[in-house]
Amino acid sequence: MLLLNSISKVIQAFSRLLRVDIACFNPDGQLIAATEEYILRKGKKVHVPFFNNLYGHHITLLHQPGKMPTCDGCHFINNCPSKAELVQDMIINGKKYGYLSFVSFSQENERILIENKEYYIEWLSRLKEIIISILRDTDELKVKENRVLVSENYIFGKSKSLSQIHNLIKSIRNGTSSILITGETGTGKSLLAQYIHETSLVSKGPFIELNCAAIPESLFESELFGYEEGAFTNAKRHGKQGYFELADNGTLFLDEIADLPISLQPKLLKVIQDGIIRRVGGTTSKKVNVRLISATNRSIDELMNEKLFRSDLFYRLNVIPMTIPPLRERMEDLELLVMNFIEKLSERTGKFIDSCTKEYMNILSSYHWPGNLRELENVIEYSMNIEQKNVLTKNSLPPYLSNPLIGHHKLEQKHKPALVEAEKEIIIQKLDQYGNSYSGKQLAAKDLGISIRTLYRKIDKLQIRS
Ligand SMILES: Nc1ncnc2c1ncn2[C@@H]1O[C@H](COP(=O)(O)OP(=O)(O)O)[C@@H](O)[C@H]1O
Ligand SMILES: [Mg+2]
Repeated sequence: MLLLNSISKVIQAFSRLLRVDIACFNPDGQLIAATEEYILRKGKKVHVPFFNNLYGHHITLLHQPGKMPTCDGCHFINNCPSKAELVQDMIINGKKYGYLSFVSFSQENERILIENKEYYIEWLSRLKEIIISILRDTDELKVKENRVLVSENYIFGKSKSLSQIHNLIKSIRNGTSSILITGETGTGKSLLAQYIHETSLVSKGPFIELNCAAIPESLFESELFGYEEGAFTNAKRHGKQGYFELADNGTLFLDEIADLPISLQPKLLKVIQDGIIRRVGGTTSKKVNVRLISATNRSIDELMNEKLFRSDLFYRLNVIPMTIPPLRERMEDLELLVMNFIEKLSERTGKFIDSCTKEYMNILSSYHWPGNLRELENVIEYSMNIEQKNVLTKNSLPPYLSNPLIGHHKLEQKHKPALVEAEKEIIIQKLDQYGNSYSGKQLAAKDLGISIRTLYRKIDKLQIRS
């Protein structure tokens, strides 16, 4: 991952300097790093026969990409977004490292590339040397989990808020302070946590994820800290490692941290302070070295006011706060995200989509995306499945978007006020009955058949005043 990062950085720098788009491929012809523009226009899928043909040719100038014999079978045939490409194979002492390509997407850039061919060939060779010097110690460069590194902006968007997050990530890269990520559901908190890990000092260590809302309170302690053999009935022989041990020398990602039961909070606090864990039923302690990233879509401030979240723990977790804004507040990123999802989903849907119509994008731009990126991803997947051609059109949108008048969000909105009012009414009634104190709320929650935390969430959401 670090190697890919370095290659990606060099490529971005050369691209800015030379005003040309750049892509780098491994010996199998798989894309391993590229500029943002390249990914947006050509995607990550590569037509491998094309590369096989280039092997041994040193440098090849392609005047007419999409119209060459080797383009046969490529989904861009006759319709290639690139205007000219200068491709070089990266071979040293018979060892193949892959290919490097300078690409022009506009006629103007095509002219510049061709007129200054010698100049670009010179820089292509220099870039090749740098990349080979980065790769020299590795035997092969595999594409990991189908991920391609492009400029960091591409991964998360280029809106102002996202750029700020990027700058923050850059400036904390050499530390391991605790991070708390907040944002609505589906905004990309989990992905961000993973990204921070991958670009951090502990990236070689494990990334372990624990969803605090998914673990029953009674199992929490043994899950977090592990247990010794015989600690309780059904305990496994030889005991079990807890999440802290598993994440030793890496990152522990505590998702939905607001759901961490208050009874366990002091224990977590203690581990954070001392870095020492003791398994349930164990007599010995162990030192662990774990970087903590937590995430929540709820307001911890509110929970602290209600004494459902300890402030001392909050301050420990929230050393570096990061907030991802909802998609509707960063619509500048929409197109980038759409293209990224199209690319990501092409394998699953078996479709190669080149673009979307203006009308399609307009509809997406005017929607409010309550489910954020996750909802957007689902919409794109739906469209790709439905669409018959290689351009996404209004017709392939799910009905609630293509025809909002019959769409479910409108229907929902029609009925929503009545439901919301009814729910609010019932809760107010129960609070009147049992009182507004903490114990009153506990009784009200019990009576309503919901947890106290859910009750607080509803009070918060429905803006019920005490
Ligand atoms: N910047 C991004 N670019 C591309 N895909 C993203 C981005 N952020 C999130 N996603 C995708 O959106 C979906 C929701 O992201 P996730 O991290 O699970 O959100 P959250 O944890 O906030 O609910 C995932 O499929 C994720 O891969
Ligand atoms: Mg998540």
